[in-house]
Amino acid sequence: MEKENWLQLVEGTEKDVIIGQAMNLLDGVLDYKDLMMGYACAIKEINTKFEVLDTEFEVRYKRNPISSIETRLKSQTSILEKMARLGIAPSRENIENNLNDIAGIRVICSYIDDIYFLADALTKQDDIKLIKRKDYISNPKPNGYRSLHLIVSVPIFFAESSKEVKAEVQIRTIAMDFWASLEHQIKYKKNVKNADKVIARLKECADEIAHVDETMQQIRVEMDKIQENSTDAETLYEKLKKIDINFM
Ligand code: GTP
Ligand code: MG
Repeated sequence: MEKENWLQLVEGTEKDVIIGQAMNLLDGVLDYKDLMMGYACAIKEINTKFEVLDTEFEVRYKRNPISSIETRLKSQTSILEKMARLGIAPSRENIENNLNDIAGIRVICSYIDDIYFLADALTKQDDIKLIKRKDYISNPKPNGYRSLHLIVSVPIFFAESSKEVKAEVQIRTIAMDFWASLEHQIKYKKNVKNADKVIARLKECADEIAHVDETMQQIRVEMDKIQENSTDAETLYEKLKKIDINFM
């Protein structure tokens, strides 16, 4: 609608009521947007921290521990649905105090030991506070789900203020991610025949995948050892190769 038409429309007898209601509504919307901005910035901060670690690792060891990073901001419908599930009124304060997963960062790694390296490197940074750590790799869920989950908080600095913002970090291997994505899709399919059998087969797949992850890890450790026994000329060549930086 054109601005002129819009102004004419609210210039009626109920003008003040309409404007008052609209203002209230807008204040609520802007407050919500302000809340979500904090979480969006926490995602940016933590994403950069992982990118920095990946770059450092690449320069030092000529290998990337991170295969990819996915980020997501919880949708408004999911926030309301979760607050309803918890039985708590969805005020700004309640949302901030009760939800840890509005900002979500998923880091996909090549090897199992990369997961623990990245988790330790992140949580020992001065500005990161570790709130909760769940190791579903050493203690997989009964359905076979594996990942390392961290709830952390990070300070966000705005022009006039700063605040601690919480985020959920999930770190897993490519294989664990492959399984979790398919399991997630299957879980939400309705009227699955022989659901028990499907669950059991998924659990078998999870265990096979975990075995593959462990074998790949062992192979890499063995390859690293071979490199340690190289001749001086081979070592020199490897060191020269590490000087090239090709990630800008
Ligand atoms: P939510 O209330 O679902 O957020 O979980 P929670 O507080 O019990 O935390 P938990 O750390 O167990 O799970 C958080 C997230 O991990 C989920 O939202 C999923 O993204 C992922 N996750 C946990 N369990 C499973 C699972 O069995 N399968 C899959 N595919 N993903 C899972
Ligand atoms: Mg969640």
